[in-house]
Amino acid sequence: MILPIYTYGQPVLKEIAQDITPDYPNLQELIANMFETLSEADGVGLAAPQIGLSIRVVVIDLDIVKDDDPKFKDFRKAYINPHIIEFGEEQVTMEEGCLSLPGIHENVKRSKKIKVQYLDADFNPHEEIADGYLARVMQHEFDHLDGHVFVEHISPLRKQIVKNKLHTMLNGRVHCSYRVKIFKRK
Ligand code: NI
Repeated sequence: MILPIYTYGQPVLKEIAQDITPDYPNLQELIANMFETLSEADGVGLAAPQIGLSIRVVVIDLDIVKDDDPKFKDFRKAYINPHIIEFGEEQVTMEEGCLSLPGIHENVKRSKKIKVQYLDADFNPHEEIADGYLARVMQHEFDHLDGHVFVEHISPLRKQIVKNKLHTMLNGRVHCSYRVKIFKRK
């Protein structure tokens, strides 16, 4: 089932999401719905707050970039209760976008490498080092679990430029090809 994506201004995007336990109801169905929603919107990652749930669940689907990097063929993973436990010193700049902020694409500087801990969809624990594009997507998605969106990381000058677009969104004008749940300022 395709779920509407909550856009900028929705309070849930600013909350600190909670860890979940194995008895969380209908988790496998939720994960399947998140993958379907992500794929329909042509995105690479989706965090549960973006569908209105303040829980620490993220899905990442890098199969869409397999033409650029064949190692991501069939890469579809769910991350439960993920936490970044180390940020590598080396930082790289790359353009990012977000399904919750349609129409905004900005350069963001992030660690090239990170160490992460998470549970997979069956609650098996993992600890691994992620590098490059996967590390980039993880940092963006896991940020959503702590109530952050990528435009918080851009330069002050670019923030100034993006401000108008954000105001437009807060006034309820959002244009994109997928289903959204818009926040409208009163
Ligand atoms: Ni995002």
